[in-house]
Amino acid sequence: MALLEINDLTVYYGHVHALKGISLTVEPGEIVALIGANGAGKSTTLRAISGLVRPQGEIVFDGRSINATPAHQIVQMGIGHVPEGRKVFATLTVDENLTLGAYSRGRDRTGIEESRERVFALFPRLAERRHQLAGTLSGGEQQMLAIGRALMVKPRLMLLDEPSLGLAPLLVQSIFQTIKEINAQGTTVLLVEQNARAALKLAHRAYVLETGRIALSGPANVLAEDPRVRRAYLGER
Ligand SMILES: Nc1ncnc2c1ncn2[C@@H]1O[C@H](COP(=O)(O)OP(=O)(O)OP(=O)(O)O)[C@@H](O)[C@H]1O
Ligand SMILES: [Mg+2]
Repeated sequence: MALLEINDLTVYYGHVHALKGISLTVEPGEIVALIGANGAGKSTTLRAISGLVRPQGEIVFDGRSINATPAHQIVQMGIGHVPEGRKVFATLTVDENLTLGAYSRGRDRTGIEESRERVFALFPRLAERRHQLAGTLSGGEQQMLAIGRALMVKPRLMLLDEPSLGLAPLLVQSIFQTIKEINAQGTTVLLVEQNARAALKLAHRAYVLETGRIALSGPANVLAEDPRVRRAYLGER
């Protein structure tokens, strides 16, 4: 059974028809990439899964329909969301950001501290800066913190929205390596990226979104060889 199944998902923002009936699945253990141009509807797809926008159509997580489930319950069910543009709490420390990330776990102190140690093991730079205000971290460090904060919910499914945005090439590699590690440790990943090359290298499967519709889908290595993908998303002639 798919961990996530989306059927005929439609989202309007007022008169803007952002998603026009998309369907996709994410199997347990997979990294699935969602690529597409600016405004294609990638972030909207993730927001609909997290319950931040109300779609038409069907979203099933682990066998349960979550269309009408409030966002905070969706977090508790095990979906972590790293939003576009990081959105860490600038005036709180690294530690406080991580603690807030775990708020849905209530009093599970031991479990929460285990997760915190796991985040620090993945991102030693965060451990060194645990008492620093998040707003004073570099862009790359803020991205690490945003990922770390999502890991604090111990997600079964992690939604990542443009983790490579604005990062230097070396750091992009390192963030992608970490996503691979998070996946290898048992977290399923749905990754939104404009860096199609890096995303297709990392992912098992991918979907190409064009103005609210799925234009192409398949194994990531096959899509990376598709002439349409190469022209439109990999900058080749
Ligand atoms: N709150 C909103 N109100 C009105 N229109 C919106 C809103 N959010 C998104 N849209 C529109 O919906 C469409 C899809 O937006 P979305 O943010 O999902 O695109 P995206 O694929 O994530 O793009 P990008 O790569 O630039 O982040 C765009 O045309 C956008 O202008
Ligand atoms: Mg977006």
